[in-house]
Amino acid sequence: MEARSPRPGRTAVLAAVGAHVPSIVVTNDDLAARLDTSDEWITSRTGIRTRHVAEPGRSTSDLAIAAGTAALRAAGPDASIDTVVLATSTPDRLVPATAPAVAAGLGLAGVAAFDVDAVCSGFVYGLAVANGLIAAGTARQVLLIGADTFSAIVDPADRTTAPLFGDGAGAVVLRAGEAGEPGALLAVELGSDGALADLITVRDGWFAMQGQAVYRQAVTRMAGAARDVLARTGWQPEDVDAFVSHQANLRILRAVGADLGIDAERVHANVTDVGNTVAASIPLALAHAHAAGRLRAGDRVLLSAFGGGTTWGAATLVWPELS
Ligand code: ACO
Repeated sequence: MEARSPRPGRTAVLAAVGAHVPSIVVTNDDLAARLDTSDEWITSRTGIRTRHVAEPGRSTSDLAIAAGTAALRAAGPDASIDTVVLATSTPDRLVPATAPAVAAGLGLAGVAAFDVDAVCSGFVYGLAVANGLIAAGTARQVLLIGADTFSAIVDPADRTTAPLFGDGAGAVVLRAGEAGEPGALLAVELGSDGALADLITVRDGWFAMQGQAVYRQAVTRMAGAARDVLARTGWQPEDVDAFVSHQANLRILRAVGADLGIDAERVHANVTDVGNTVAASIPLALAHAHAAGRLRAGDRVLLSAFGGGTTWGAATLVWPELS
């Protein structure tokens, strides 16, 4: 999918980022105290040391509102959001969608609001949707939030999945702008293969996955989507200053980087601190890297994701000057 728009003022441009992680922190030692596992096993296989878990009574919409509030604050008083897109696979309820409640919670009742579900690829799918709405002239300012509370669907007694996930939310404001300006979405690539739906699923109420097959697919698909989007953008892997991919686990991030020829210093990772936060993963990583001063204006940024469905996607942009 080519994200470039020939029409003036009709490209999605990144204008602000925001993030929220809940206050409860679960360490590997906390998990080892109640499961047959160890800090050594989890760290060596996944790179994850801590993850955050939603406080009792808080759900995906609460986390999304907190991240949305942070992004709106960063966007400044002139922000005028007309659309809220929530990427999530753990909505508060099956019906209705969670985005309208998030919009109302942000004081934005009346704007268009809907959910996008592409599991761990949800944020990249959301970017494409927001860009399409802006290109069509339907939207001028989109608040795109990725938020998930996998603690609600991960069996706390399952040592094969419990260490992997954390709860969180990340948000971006995308405004209508010009294709050539910093922050403009340059290209987006999306894909899916429903024949592999059973690799990542929910069975009997609990999350289930085929770990090794997911690992192989994640590396192959994220690297493939990244190559395609780089080709569309006209960049080589050596042109990329920051590779911010879905934070599934550290080994996957490094393997994709190595496959693409992007060295470890340019591969951004916050999975160590927050685990796999599903649709929140990329915007959280962007917000954390921005807050830490690790993303600078002018950096050429490559995003990629793989998730349940199976789904995958990648996108490119030049990092803008952000507050
Ligand atoms: N602690 C100790 N032992 C464990 C644990 C644990 N937490 N979990 C599994 N084991 C055991 C298994 O029971 C198995 O024991 P056995 O040999 O006696 O049967 C052994 O360790 C090896 O299990 P594998 O599943 O083969 O372990 P693997 O080396 O594949 O690592 C992992 C598992 C980390 C999940 C790996 O497959 C992986 O990274 N997969 C990618 C999946 C992922 O990150 N998914 C995230 C969600 S989807 C997404 O974001 C795209």
